[in-house]
Amino acid sequence: MPSAPVPPPVPWWKGAAIYQLYVRSFADGNGDGIGDLAGVRAHLPYLAALGIDAIWFNPWYPSPMADAGYDISDYRSIDPVFGTLADADALIAEAHAHGIRIIVDVVPNHGSDQHPWFLAALAAGPGSAERSRFWFRPGRGVNGSLPPNNWQSIFGGPAWTRVTEADGSPGEWYLHLFAPEQPDFNWASPDVRLEFEDVLRFWFARGVDGIRIDSAALLCKDASLPDVTGTEPPGPAHPYTDRDDVHLIYQSWRAIADSFAGRMLIGEIWLPDAARLARYVGPGELHTVFNFPYLNCAWDAGALRAVIDQTLALSSGAPATWVLSNHDVDRVVSRYGRADTSFDLERRPYFHAFPVDLPLGTRRARAAALLTMALPGSVYIYQGEELGLWEVQDIPDELRQDPIWARTHGADPGRDGCRVPLPWSGMEPPFGFSPPDAAAAPWLPQPKDWRDLTVSASSGNPDSMLTLYRDALRIRRSSPELGDGPMTWQPTPDGVLAFDRAPLGQGTGGLRCVANLSAAPVALPANAVVLLSSGPLSGGLLPPDTTAWLRMS
Ligand code: NOJ
Ligand code: CA
Repeated sequence: MPSAPVPPPVPWWKGAAIYQLYVRSFADGNGDGIGDLAGVRAHLPYLAALGIDAIWFNPWYPSPMADAGYDISDYRSIDPVFGTLADADALIAEAHAHGIRIIVDVVPNHGSDQHPWFLAALAAGPGSAERSRFWFRPGRGVNGSLPPNNWQSIFGGPAWTRVTEADGSPGEWYLHLFAPEQPDFNWASPDVRLEFEDVLRFWFARGVDGIRIDSAALLCKDASLPDVTGTEPPGPAHPYTDRDDVHLIYQSWRAIADSFAGRMLIGEIWLPDAARLARYVGPGELHTVFNFPYLNCAWDAGALRAVIDQTLALSSGAPATWVLSNHDVDRVVSRYGRADTSFDLERRPYFHAFPVDLPLGTRRARAAALLTMALPGSVYIYQGEELGLWEVQDIPDELRQDPIWARTHGADPGRDGCRVPLPWSGMEPPFGFSPPDAAAAPWLPQPKDWRDLTVSASSGNPDSMLTLYRDALRIRRSSPELGDGPMTWQPTPDGVLAFDRAPLGQGTGGLRCVANLSAAPVALPANAVVLLSSGPLSGGLLPPDTTAWLRMS
């Protein structure tokens, strides 16, 4: 008898739980107040016990740190403040031994102004091959004293900086969509294309399982560099981003990823338009993209349902990704504790003006965590989310590090508040982030009240966010219904979301997620056993701002 065909294995990333690890703020192994790879290696058992499948590392490469490592001066090494390439190799091997895969961040839109190519371009002068790898242009106006066009930087101020030529005269200008220390590469240059293809191969060959592509929609520019109307920065809605030619780059990157078994590419793309976003996960392109409409969405059942439906409809076979927070946005317990629970990183000062109700925000963040982890696809957890850390909005001005703060002259507080070093143990800062004999304090100050949220204080506390994340991830891993696969909405009262997850081909039933975003308690179905809930039930009812996972009989 012929044997039944063996179904192809499901790629690991389709339903993975991925932990975003911001190295500077995770754990400091050598006591200089900055997180490092030794700190990560020491805490791999923590991550394994949390139940994640992979780690995405924010950039760990040599960098002058003008934008916390997103200004890279060498794409094939590790910044000495974090460790060495040998440390990275050891970390990759140790993570794999724990069953944890590794995703690294590659930043193709721009490098550092200390990258050897940029230094060579400065030295070689106007018209040189070295300058053609970037966007150098003469200025406008008398003596070229005005920028080549009116584009604004995403970090504030003009997107152009003028250089001084080797002879000391005021010279050309170069384009930087972000800080001046981050000159944009010119992707029309074959050198740039070949260089990044080689960088991809370099990390895949070292055993890395995936690449997160920074600013993935911004790489290609209209070479005529036309003025835009208005003063909009070249962010998601800018007409000179998301150009057709960027897709050719990702087609060649996909071929490289596919030439190594099981590797994945995920794009960071802030496009509000689902159809434009969908192109990036079209045939032969990226495996997945980040789902920022979900992150930005208010804590509102109708709005969330619309985003979920739009996300699932979008993906032409690519699995959805679900993200509640990352290193660029306000922490979720703070967002959900404001009168306006949506978020938009271009309007951070508006959101910071609201008072924050932390208990309410925490309650909603717990409910959102269970909602998110029950949705079909992969889920990203930003470090500290599992501890219920809040956005630190009162960092003293003189300690702020994010270039957004300085470039907007303090109008935008920037992203430091979601990057404060993790509290691990103890009753006061540095809360075990650094070793006891540390030479320096953590690079950003930690709130004293985080003493109740340390990993030690949270472990074994049945009511902690950490216990909820551990329980949810354990159930998610051991339930074939969760992760990748179909979902079916169930009828609900207004303000309530309910859907079933069943293994492929088994119809409805299985596991049900019910999230109550209404103001009134709701009844749960009779034929259900509660597997997990984000807060206690009250008289058998699911209270407001609470989510439950149910096993349906
Ligand atoms: C997107 C990254 O997420 C952000 O942190 C960074 O500042 C910009 N890209 C510029 O690289
Ligand atoms: Ca350190």
